[in-house]
Amino acid sequence: MGEASMERGTPIYRIRGGRPLQGEVEVSGAKNAALPIMASTILARRPVTLKRVPEVRDVQTLSTVLEEVGMRVERADCDLRIETVDPDRCRADRTWVRHMRASFCVLGPLLARRGQAVVALPGGCKIGDRPVDIHLRGFEAMGARLALEDGYVSARAERLRGATIDLAGPHGTTVTGTANLMAAATLADGRTTLVNAACEPEIVDLARFLISLGAKIDGAGRSVITIDGVERLGGEVTHRVIPDRIEAATFLIAATATRGAICVRGADPSHLSAVIDLLQSTGAEIEVDQSSIRIDATRPIRAVDVVARPYPGVPTDMQAPIMAMLATAAGESIVRDEVFPDRFAHVPELVKMGANIEDIGDRVCIRGVQFLNGAQVTAPDLRAGAALVIAALAAQGDTVVRKVDRIDRGYRQFAKRLRQLGVQIDREVRKSQ
Ligand code: EPU
Repeated sequence: MGEASMERGTPIYRIRGGRPLQGEVEVSGAKNAALPIMASTILARRPVTLKRVPEVRDVQTLSTVLEEVGMRVERADCDLRIETVDPDRCRADRTWVRHMRASFCVLGPLLARRGQAVVALPGGCKIGDRPVDIHLRGFEAMGARLALEDGYVSARAERLRGATIDLAGPHGTTVTGTANLMAAATLADGRTTLVNAACEPEIVDLARFLISLGAKIDGAGRSVITIDGVERLGGEVTHRVIPDRIEAATFLIAATATRGAICVRGADPSHLSAVIDLLQSTGAEIEVDQSSIRIDATRPIRAVDVVARPYPGVPTDMQAPIMAMLATAAGESIVRDEVFPDRFAHVPELVKMGANIEDIGDRVCIRGVQFLNGAQVTAPDLRAGAALVIAALAAQGDTVVRKVDRIDRGYRQFAKRLRQLGVQIDREVRKSQ
């Protein structure tokens, strides 16, 4: 866990702003691909090796959940070896599921492989309302008997049966819902058709992994996915997780916010088209080859309007970092989030740093200021925390960002890697805050 492993207390970042990012950075494996893939190893009959699994806190949390449900998880650097050791343990406690919603992705694989599961309902979260009704509707359509009791879902099924499931909700499709149901359907009796499925590259990566185990899946990456259930899935496979497009985008946005020039290596530029287009429309110059993205944002940048949408749109996870960047762009930008319409907890913190941001109902209006100022701010959640770091790097003076353990959930050694890009950021631990 690098930066976080030895700490006792709440970590902060102390950041001296005003230096453009320069140099090269290598992208980690995708957290949001690794998590559902790790959960779906429950389906395999033999041990599985996953490569390029990022060393971030959410992966550690899910490893604990998997151990709780009878899996053994061994890590060597970025490789995980996972196998079933006790198939009778089918309960995932709220202690962990509460911390991380992706833990709910163990439900489908447990139900499909072991016929039963008891999983805590994920709690609320600062990024907005995050129900699991679509997941549950899907499992019911596949014949599972569900009961909600005392904050837990308990589910049973002799064998799930194929069904047609529409994944559309009030804010579009669901990414982890698609993952949970697709994984469960691999062992169902008959054909499952997922309509309005998520098209994210992380879903395609999960499908690739399941297919390598012997699953029959067609259409991953498109809005209709068909899965023909098989009797059993194999194992002894090795799967390499895709690069993290969200982490890559974070570095590109940080470079633009600080008027820097960097090269992001080991990325998949085809997953980042919407972000690349957006950065180009601010005036940044970008060159891509197969696995690297070079950005030069050393000239002043312009305002742009942004709507966060499901893939292939601008990711909601980048909405906060983009807003931090636009705080000093010339002109007025309007930002809206169609996936999590209230995901604006970073706004008051950015305002403390001198940003001119106005909440106008379901969108915010940013009027670019010449510079942000250092301040004391608090990371409200993972991506909003990354946004505050970006704002601090671009600001004049010193900023303290509190509760950066929230950033550890999804960024590997964030401070260290930013330091390698030439900026001044230190991590300290405060005993109490
Ligand atoms: N929704 C429902 N009912 C459901 C499920 C979702 O109404 O049963 C709604 C949500 O409230 C939201 C929308 O549908 O308005 C989309 O939510 P989704 O289920 O797609 O989100 P998720 O699967 O829980 C994943 C990522 C998030 C990312 C979102 C959107 C993982 C582990 N998490 O969450 O990543 O923001 O998709 O792209 O893949 C992050 O990495 O910081 C993060 C929050």
